[in-house]
Amino acid sequence: MKSLANQRILLGITGGIAAYKSAELTRRLRDQGAEVRVVMTPAATEFITPLTLQALSGNPVHTDLLDHAAEAAMGHIELARWADTVVVAPATANFIARLSNGMADDLLSALCLATAAPLLVAPAMNQQMWQNPATQENVARLQARGITLLGPASGDQACGETGPGRLLEPDEIVPAIIAAGRTSRLAGVKVMVSAGPTREFIDPVRYLSNRSSGRMGYAVARAAEQSGASVTLVSGPVTLAPPARVRVVEVVSAAQMHDSVLAEARSCDIFISAAAVADYRSREKAPQKMKKRDAGISLSLEKTPDILAEVAALANPPFTVGFAAETENLARNAKQKLAKKNLDMVAANRVGDGLGFDSDRNALEVYWRDGSQSLGTASKELLARQLLEIIVARYREQTSEQSHKPAVTEVSD
Ligand code: PMT
Repeated sequence: MKSLANQRILLGITGGIAAYKSAELTRRLRDQGAEVRVVMTPAATEFITPLTLQALSGNPVHTDLLDHAAEAAMGHIELARWADTVVVAPATANFIARLSNGMADDLLSALCLATAAPLLVAPAMNQQMWQNPATQENVARLQARGITLLGPASGDQACGETGPGRLLEPDEIVPAIIAAGRTSRLAGVKVMVSAGPTREFIDPVRYLSNRSSGRMGYAVARAAEQSGASVTLVSGPVTLAPPARVRVVEVVSAAQMHDSVLAEARSCDIFISAAAVADYRSREKAPQKMKKRDAGISLSLEKTPDILAEVAALANPPFTVGFAAETENLARNAKQKLAKKNLDMVAANRVGDGLGFDSDRNALEVYWRDGSQSLGTASKELLARQLLEIIVARYREQTSEQSHKPAVTEVSD
């Protein structure tokens, strides 16, 4: 199973002799299923050509902050938003110094400032430069800001010296990137996610459905798995690859999704309902393909079971998160769903006109009983991780409140 499937990795390359290893790194990242875009500093292009990286990444390489044509196609802000993870390998002493000072005077440093994605830096430099207190202070500042350091390794250097400052090998960087996205915050926690559309057949070949691609729910399942949870994904019919280390239960109709979700709802700790379950199905399903008639036909529809509401109404429900797909009155409708279905949280997205359904990007307004948070437009992968952060915080708060409730004791009069 590919561990970086659908991950968008922006690889930054700065000007050092180790830049040649970035070519192999690009290949290894793609082997793991990542989509890679490369940004090179001008100095990096002295060591390895953009054409090499373009051929290996399968995408145009970006080098200039002030290139009008590049900015019109995918400028630094778009690149910063596009990335699920930014990796700078190799990162020279100069780049690390500029990053630690918040400089934005070239494309790579500007987008490192502009991105909300996790940033990983793999240093490569002469061992004296690495051990210099100035570099060590800069590195400490980056780590204090949550930037992950990959290496450096120790050993023979291109300059003839020996010591710390070698770029990690691509074989070491790729697992480190995979591991950096993983936490154990939900270790021991069972998460169930529903995703995709349902199909409600009216005859053997026709059905009622919607445009859900499953991408949002699959990204949520991946984010939960990366947080250490044991994850079950109940999926309607989609064309996506199953996420690594996630148990997938495939269903077609709302009734099947209902049965699969309810069968496990009592034993899971968190349920996240990202599926676009059909609200109605035909009362009757014709046993044979319906014949075209001159006059129109009428379908009699009945409601499907509200899976989310049923889970939230269980005697001992999991932490229950619904989605709300709205074309108008987003906040009001989402808050109504939160209250009416008795949910712990609702993630609302605007849909229609190319938004929400069947697109790579989305934006969420997240509501819970006494709070809310906006998650601005981003890839569904990044949004899923941000949503998971909020869910984990609220789930932890709720479980610690419950464990601090005084035990109920019988009082006899
Ligand atoms: O799949 P993608 O292409 O990535 O698109 C993502 C998405 C837009 C489908 C997703 O972000 C989303 O909004 N999912 C919920 C869609 C939806 O059905 O919303 P709703 O407002 O109609 O339903 C509210 C909630 O009730 C949802 O959590 C839904 O899963 C649940 N529901 C609805 C009907 C039903 N019969 N049973 C349910 O459990």
